[in-house]
Amino acid sequence: MDEIAAFTVQFPDEVAEEFLRRAATVLQTGRLIPGTNNAEFEDRFATLVGAAHAATVSSGTAALEIALRVAEVKGRPVLVPANTNYATAEAVLRARCRPVLYDAGQYPDIASIGAAWTPEVAAVVVVHIGGYLTPELVRIRAWCDERDVLLIEDASHAHGAEVDGQRAGTFGHLAAFSLFATKVLTTSEGGVLTTGSSEWATAARRHRDQGKADDGLHHVVFGSAWRMSELHAALGVAQLLGFEATRTRLTRLVSRYLDGINHPSVLVPHLPTAGCSGHKFIVTTADAAARESLHRHLAACGVQPGKGVYDVPLHRQPALGLGDQGPFPAAEHFAATHVCLPLWHGLSNDEADRVIEAVNGWRHDG
Ligand SMILES: Cc1ncc(COP(=O)(O)O)c(C=O)c1O
Repeated sequence: MDEIAAFTVQFPDEVAEEFLRRAATVLQTGRLIPGTNNAEFEDRFATLVGAAHAATVSSGTAALEIALRVAEVKGRPVLVPANTNYATAEAVLRARCRPVLYDAGQYPDIASIGAAWTPEVAAVVVVHIGGYLTPELVRIRAWCDERDVLLIEDASHAHGAEVDGQRAGTFGHLAAFSLFATKVLTTSEGGVLTTGSSEWATAARRHRDQGKADDGLHHVVFGSAWRMSELHAALGVAQLLGFEATRTRLTRLVSRYLDGINHPSVLVPHLPTAGCSGHKFIVTTADAAARESLHRHLAACGVQPGKGVYDVPLHRQPALGLGDQGPFPAAEHFAATHVCLPLWHGLSNDEADRVIEAVNGWRHDG
């Protein structure tokens, strides 16, 4: 029996055809720099998430850095969860802010954010790990507003994820999405920033174009080459045209896992199924030994376990220089105990059922 891959990049035929049609036009016209495909991507993405504005950029990391730069918080502390991608803190450092870590496992919560908060803090970053929104998101925004602190969503995993009909990208003052190759919506490399502020959206477009003024001569803000090419944007638009169907398929697979997984030692965190993006399906075990045992069992059953979302929390990432912060027990526990099961929109029901059978058949051999 074939091994079930942890993840596969697959484009439906209609997406490939639409992309090739658009790519041919880009090549014929010779317009490679941001043009109609970028503009259409921005319009369609803003509509998808319900944001007033969207600005395409070259990566999710760039979107985060630009969010902090347009918010003009340079030099100030920014709260970042210890459990996230290197890029979240990298962007904060590149924007010349000071990352202050707070403890978080799967979900950021007000208690942990509050424990790290000081009156100097300019912004709080929440990360929607795996594409699931913390149940406290609305309250976190209110908490930030009460303290006059910006909320920035690192929505890199959360395209289309929602709580009570409100989608990721609209809870924060600014939000950043990654469009990297492993995401549910991808331009291979790319990112998009969303905001309710037209001023910030205009500033973001200026930053992505090396900070150029409208005269094209003067560099008036410290931007960089953070543009998205028309070819990348064309791939994004081709997927956005059928994105709701992709999302529906992913959330059905998540429901199938939730209904089928029934093992006393495999915990499924509280998941707002209908509201997740379907980027990851995450389960947790009691401890690191159990996680290793589950990994071995899945591999023996022909199910490739996915890499952990984040196996090493940020305070233990040498390049970031944040090792003097901590301890972060929730981040450490999550890193040591979570397992990502195979998930992508082309995964068949039969394959999902084989994964479920494998999980339910696990006996801890530790
Ligand atoms: C939570 C999070 N933030 C930021 C990024 C950076 O995105 P990109 O690789 O598009 O720069 C990633 C990448 O996967 C991520 O997982």
